[in-house]
Amino acid sequence: MKLLETQASRYDLGMRMLSIGRIQRLYAEVAAHVPEQGDILDVGCGTGGVTAALLTEGLTEGRQVTGVDRSPQMLAVAETKLAEPVAAGRLRLRQVPITGLEREFPAESFDAVVCCLVLSELSATEESYALDVFCRLLRPGGTLVLADEVTPDSPVRRWLYRVGRWPMAALTYVVTQTGTHATRELDRKLTDRGLETVRVAHRQGQSFQIVTGRKPAWRLQPQP
Ligand SMILES: C[S@@+](CC[C@H](N)C(=O)[O-])C[C@H]1O[C@@H](n2cnc3c(N)ncnc32)[C@H](O)[C@@H]1O
Repeated sequence: MKLLETQASRYDLGMRMLSIGRIQRLYAEVAAHVPEQGDILDVGCGTGGVTAALLTEGLTEGRQVTGVDRSPQMLAVAETKLAEPVAAGRLRLRQVPITGLEREFPAESFDAVVCCLVLSELSATEESYALDVFCRLLRPGGTLVLADEVTPDSPVRRWLYRVGRWPMAALTYVVTQTGTHATRELDRKLTDRGLETVRVAHRQGQSFQIVTGRKPAWRLQPQP
């Protein structure tokens, strides 16, 4: 994906080709896991693929969407594509890196946080920090939706996945000098953070997951 981001204007075309025309369906599916109403944060929104789906799926009347990304080039494409919802006040786009989220937004500001194809670009430490921040930004009862490449659990699928993936990984490294890597155990990572009703939907032969979890609506306070 980092390879495609080097030419933000061609990112959408690249994703269409890479996914053999299935990317829009995937974005719609990710958006369908998000509650219909409330304040929604799309982290690493890029050129706005999921963001657009969030604005067309479900009841957009009661939905306010915020898209953030660290890349001005990717955001510029999103701003052009999504000029209408921005003008209508249903969408705001901001250049904010994950490390700046808590400076930009108070804790418990969002009913849902969505993050699609971003965690696989982060180191393990960055990913852990990002997940902690996402949980803090959620209101009690809010939903976290993560969609990303994962390493399949079964050894055979894992082997097939690695064989199919290395040419793209190598090309990405040659052009960007950085790598992307599939993440793993997203469901456990959400459970460990106290999220409940954690669910996993597998796609693309188990190498892509949409993982959702709900922040508890209330917590027992320790007695003095
Ligand atoms: C592969 S693209 C995914 C874009 C979009 N979510 C999608 O599904 O098409 C990854 C995006 O994450 C952004 N990104 C990566 N690391 C980030 C960080 N630390 N803070 C904010 N955005 C980040 C990149 O700039 C890029 O736009």
